[in-house]
Amino acid sequence: MSKRKPLIAANWKMYKTPADAAAFVTAFAPLVKGHTRDEIVLCPSFLSVATVVAAVKGTAIHVGGQNMHWQEEGAFTGETSAAMLHAAGCTHVVIGHSERRQFFGETDETVNQKLHTALKHKLVPIVCVGELLAEREGGLTEEVLLRQTSKALVGITAETAKPIVIAYEPVWAIGTGKTATPEMAAEAHLIIRSCIARALGREVAEQLRILYGGSVKPDNASSLLNQPEIDGALVGGASLDPQSFAKIVNYIES
Ligand code: PGA
Repeated sequence: MSKRKPLIAANWKMYKTPADAAAFVTAFAPLVKGHTRDEIVLCPSFLSVATVVAAVKGTAIHVGGQNMHWQEEGAFTGETSAAMLHAAGCTHVVIGHSERRQFFGETDETVNQKLHTALKHKLVPIVCVGELLAEREGGLTEEVLLRQTSKALVGITAETAKPIVIAYEPVWAIGTGKTATPEMAAEAHLIIRSCIARALGREVAEQLRILYGGSVKPDNASSLLNQPEIDGALVGGASLDPQSFAKIVNYIES
């Protein structure tokens, strides 16, 4: 079986103007020039997508959206469609980030609908799942991960599943400086992979990439990314600085 290619994505959240985003790429691109081991994705705000797409031209860096609507188009003020992202040059899209679940009413059902629409528009969906601190402390981690993963995959078939990426992001580790230990992350990834296997078969489950996210930094990237179960990272805070994000992308393989 071929090895899963790690994917390392920068989630810039609501940071950086288009000018800031362009300056990032100017500093970052030379630091990862010729890097082929990992797939690199920058997810700027919608407003900076066009700028970043233009800036990464001729490099191996991809661009992704941070969210999208599940409908093709319509009267949905403030929303962005999958077709718009694709037309603007995005190849990836983050779906169901915990901040969207917590603050913007994202549900397992909307995540599932968005996943279908993203696949239809040839976007690589990065679907986020992860437990809250209270859920971990209440012994509910497995239940939450199984629910979020299986509901995200409703109606997905082994044939259509290939591009899907899952990001395990324990909510208590996001932006807090607290990281899941590599062992905790690997354990959660096994739970997610077994859920994918039940839904779509072992073969598909072995192919899909599962990223870790939650306070990934240059100094913990190697220990996390060297876990065989961890197929990359979704990075928030530490992706805002080009040097810091380049250090993560260039983690040392052991
Ligand atoms: P963090 O964010 O790296 O700042 O914890 C990760 C994320 O929210 O994707």
